[in-house]
Amino acid sequence: MSGFDKDWLALREPADVRARNQALLKAAIEAAESTSATAILDIGCGTGSTFRALLPRLRKPAHFRLFDYDPRLLDEAQRLHGNAVEIIQGDLNQIGALPLADISLVTASALFDLCSKEFIRRFVARLSQTAASLYAALNYDGRMRWSKPHPLDEAVVANFNAHQLGDKGFGFSLGPRAWETLTACLKEGGYATTTAESPWVMTADDRGLQLSFLDGVVRAVYEYAQLDENEIRDWADFRRKMVGRDGSLCEVGHQDILAIRRG
Ligand SMILES: C[S@@+](CC[C@H](N)C(=O)[O-])C[C@H]1O[C@@H](n2cnc3c(N)ncnc32)[C@H](O)[C@@H]1O
Repeated sequence: MSGFDKDWLALREPADVRARNQALLKAAIEAAESTSATAILDIGCGTGSTFRALLPRLRKPAHFRLFDYDPRLLDEAQRLHGNAVEIIQGDLNQIGALPLADISLVTASALFDLCSKEFIRRFVARLSQTAASLYAALNYDGRMRWSKPHPLDEAVVANFNAHQLGDKGFGFSLGPRAWETLTACLKEGGYATTTAESPWVMTADDRGLQLSFLDGVVRAVYEYAQLDENEIRDWADFRRKMVGRDGSLCEVGHQDILAIRRG
């Protein structure tokens, strides 16, 4: 199991929906619908958030394959969507076994920042054996910004980003740099590639998400163990107090990528 909790994925989904770059999402659907292939493969699908983002915008029926290795998340996707989707359990590291037949578009959300350089290279090599395009959304890019600054913000973000470079199941992760490596590999592979920012903008209305996100940041920074624990605790207390205050914003940077096969 992946350790991604369905409640966490549900909590973040409204912020993801707002954050997705709309022009890229539209172009991804156009790319999918411009080929004779009729299936869309969502890798690392979780409970199906990318399916839910694409479905209302489709102009033609498409067959969705949802691929993940976590049975709990796939059960939830099945419960939510029944026969509207094909559920496939598998490990992305077995790249040769990816169900890419008749796929017009491969999609992924919040996935590639978990991945290593070696995995990204292998994935792009496999993708380029097909005619499919790639829409990879919501890749964390290392930036966090709060409207009310705190002197430890920069150090906390740097420590969190360093912690992201651990092994998340694909070898040592590229974390916040993964989107750049993926983009470069796709360009080298001959894809026409577009990137666009897709930041989470969390306001007082996103209290639950902000608190849960802060818990994750604090946990990672403690684990990384380079900052003084009292300082981390003071920073966390300050940040938690700010959540829900009028006018207090938190932005978390993401990048969306669309890669269309040339020719
Ligand atoms: C951050 S979650 C994103 C889920 C979903 N795309 C979303 O945006 O809500 C990352 C997903 O990748 C899946 N995942 C991680 N490693 C995987 C692997 N080796 N094979 C298949 N799925 C994997 C996890 O189970 C999880 O569902």
